[in-house]
Amino acid sequence: MCGIVGYVGDKQAVDFLLEGLSKLEYRGYDSAGIAVYDGAKIRVEKSVGRLAALRDKIKDDVPQGTIGIGHTRWATHGRPSDVNAHPHTDCTGDFVVVHNGIIENYLTLKEDLIEKGHSFKSETDTEIVAHLLEEVWNGDFEASVREVLRRIEGSYSLVFMCKREPDKLICTKQDNPLVIGIGEGENFIASDIPAIIKRTRRTYILNDGELAVVTKDAIRITNRKGEPVTKKVFEVNWNAEAAEKGGYEHFMLKEINEQPKAVRDTMSQRIAKDGKCITMDELKWDADYLNSFNQIYIVACGTAYHAGLVGKYYIERLVRVPVQVDVASEFRYRDPIIDEHTLFIVVSQSGETSDTLAALKESKRRGAKTLALTNVVGSSIAREADQVIYTWAGPEIAVASTKAYTTQLILFFMLALYMAQIKKTVTPERIAELIAALKQVPAQISETLSDTEPIKTFAKQYGFNDDVFYIGRGLDYDVALEGALKLKEISYIHAEAYAAGELKHGTLALIVEGVPVIALATQKSVYEKTLSNIKEVKARDAVVIGIAAEGDEELQKYVDHVMKVPETDELLLPILAVVPLQLLAYYAAITRGCDVDKPRNLAKSVTVE
Ligand code: F6R
Repeated sequence: MCGIVGYVGDKQAVDFLLEGLSKLEYRGYDSAGIAVYDGAKIRVEKSVGRLAALRDKIKDDVPQGTIGIGHTRWATHGRPSDVNAHPHTDCTGDFVVVHNGIIENYLTLKEDLIEKGHSFKSETDTEIVAHLLEEVWNGDFEASVREVLRRIEGSYSLVFMCKREPDKLICTKQDNPLVIGIGEGENFIASDIPAIIKRTRRTYILNDGELAVVTKDAIRITNRKGEPVTKKVFEVNWNAEAAEKGGYEHFMLKEINEQPKAVRDTMSQRIAKDGKCITMDELKWDADYLNSFNQIYIVACGTAYHAGLVGKYYIERLVRVPVQVDVASEFRYRDPIIDEHTLFIVVSQSGETSDTLAALKESKRRGAKTLALTNVVGSSIAREADQVIYTWAGPEIAVASTKAYTTQLILFFMLALYMAQIKKTVTPERIAELIAALKQVPAQISETLSDTEPIKTFAKQYGFNDDVFYIGRGLDYDVALEGALKLKEISYIHAEAYAAGELKHGTLALIVEGVPVIALATQKSVYEKTLSNIKEVKARDAVVIGIAAEGDEELQKYVDHVMKVPETDELLLPILAVVPLQLLAYYAAITRGCDVDKPRNLAKSVTVE
């Protein structure tokens, strides 16, 4: 997975290329590179490490020219290095390419090209694309690119430059995102909107198989067959600041603090004016159809999978339909039992996660009806699913997902209520009661965010422990899983979540004096049981931090510290209880001096398997 950019216009290309890449580093940041046509040749500069290393490398001799491409990499084929960084070139240096994705048949193509005399510099799959273009060159840039596309297999977004037709860039995509920003006397190409939003809000979002020839004054888009495609301009309606840190030290903290708004935006247009029922106008399935499903699958990865676990709880509790939840990388290879009576729900913030997309395609192949919960309009998953409902969380830039998770929970809750209305599995009075509680959630999150001092103190106190355990039952267990993932991924502390009732089946052996245990006890229905599990760990001298709802005066008698969240219906408490856990992870990472927004080995959107 990587970020790619392109520029053609009157200005110095390097300015946009570096600016755009800095906004795409969330997609990968192990090396970066640019290529600029200087009037005589295409000059390529690249460097292992963050974009800053590339800036440093070129600072005394900045490439000059008004057309260029750039790339920020997250290694798949070939370790992070200068030579494996993109852009990649052919033998002559006339053909240059940047790529996001995987060329699956690259080894066969590479052997063939080597036999034909091409010599390769890198270990990447991408380099074959440049050599292939050299090999098939027929004097026409666009026609030659089409020939390359006929021969490569896999997933890609690609931008090509050619010294022999130096006034244009050619870009195309298959299974990876690509947008074109429409300027005045200049045009932009990027993997994602934050890269171009400072320059223009008018964009074309390319579909799979489309190819664009971009010059400074024109953008010509055609389909696989070369036929012209008339596209609607997509006007970006969020502002440039939304993609920036907005005064916070890190995107993650900004995004944690954006949760009240993200949650409010996600629910706002889906509650009827009288507050008594949920409306889901975007769902085009009628009541009979929604009634016909006899099972539901929820499939996702990472945090989105954790949201799916809560989704299962909501749907089973409110709709009384059996729900299975699976991680996408497991689902796609295990011959699942699904058919046309299965509703298949995928959850993905980015809408680009490769395993989730593949699972979605597999479920469709087996006849299921599909629904995507995603945050990115026009993403691959949004386009592939039969129906889409969006979380309106705005761009999530920090690698660790926060506001996407809470908005996914909101959307699952609303979806479950909506289906419950149709199936009449919940009384209208109870639905109205739950909607009233739901409307309070944004303010309650704000309340939870208003006093972070105790959380900072815990983070300082326990931030240097090697292991942390999270326990809970029911919905608390689902939130515990998410809390542990947050801590692991950004602070590198070993953290594990356990169903509290499982402790005595093995894990209790790990609980010794001084080990921090975060115990979630928000669920009234299993409260007493959780309390006895807390007593078990306390008896082994663990340091216990309890998470409870306001009004709970009991828990503090048995734990070392308590963090309280506002009281609400227990179904909604996960949305509040996760907030202190996000903050705990954030401040623990700060305490340990970790790079919060760009944790090691991780990238924001995993578009390779
Ligand atoms: C963790 C995190 C990841 C993602 C996962 C799926 O904080 O962000 O676990 O949740 O990679 O990504 P999406 O939701 O984009 O499909």
